[in-house]
Amino acid sequence: MKNKMQLQFSALSRNESFARVAVAAFVAQLDPTLDELTEIKTVVSEAVTNAIIHGYEENPDGMVYVSAAIYDDGTVEITVRDEGKGIADIEEARQPLFTTKPDLERSGMGFTIMENFMDDVEIKSQPESGTIIRLKKHLALKNALCN
Ligand SMILES: Nc1ncnc2c1ncn2[C@@H]1O[C@H](COP(=O)(O)OP(=O)(O)OP(=O)(O)O)[C@@H](O)[C@H]1O
Ligand SMILES: [Mg+2]
Repeated sequence: MKNKMQLQFSALSRNESFARVAVAAFVAQLDPTLDELTEIKTVVSEAVTNAIIHGYEENPDGMVYVSAAIYDDGTVEITVRDEGKGIADIEEARQPLFTTKPDLERSGMGFTIMENFMDDVEIKSQPESGTIIRLKKHLALKNALCN
């Protein structure tokens, strides 16, 4: 069975914790380990922060779209989408320590963290039209049945 949810919210930094907690509460149905939940919260924070800071450059008129789907086999799929400025060179953006905002104390580790914590990270982006990040993780199910 598939169970899914969607959120949309203004591109304000203060909404980052809202998105992180909402996704964690949804995924909690799969009875994740504490480590798995921490990893999921961290990647949601990273991707949502990127949408707000890079995609919209903190213009709160922008909207961030987050969706999550969970499956009985323990698979979690999360997407974070913005309609902001997009990424010119995705391969370059994925490199550890690459950042276009070193001035804002960014370390360029967001995508590297997402790749370390998730089983699959897909980035689609078009300059001036937006970015979608698709994150997948397979949880080690402790319970045979998830209802
Ligand atoms: N949603 C987005 N829209 C536009 N550009 C993005 C988006 N997400 C990432 N980028 C680009 O990719 C680069 C790398 O992102 P990454 O999250 O790895 O590092 P960072 O955000 O710069 O620093 P950190 O995440 O460590 O604070 C960013 O500096 C930015 O140029
Ligand atoms: Mg980042």
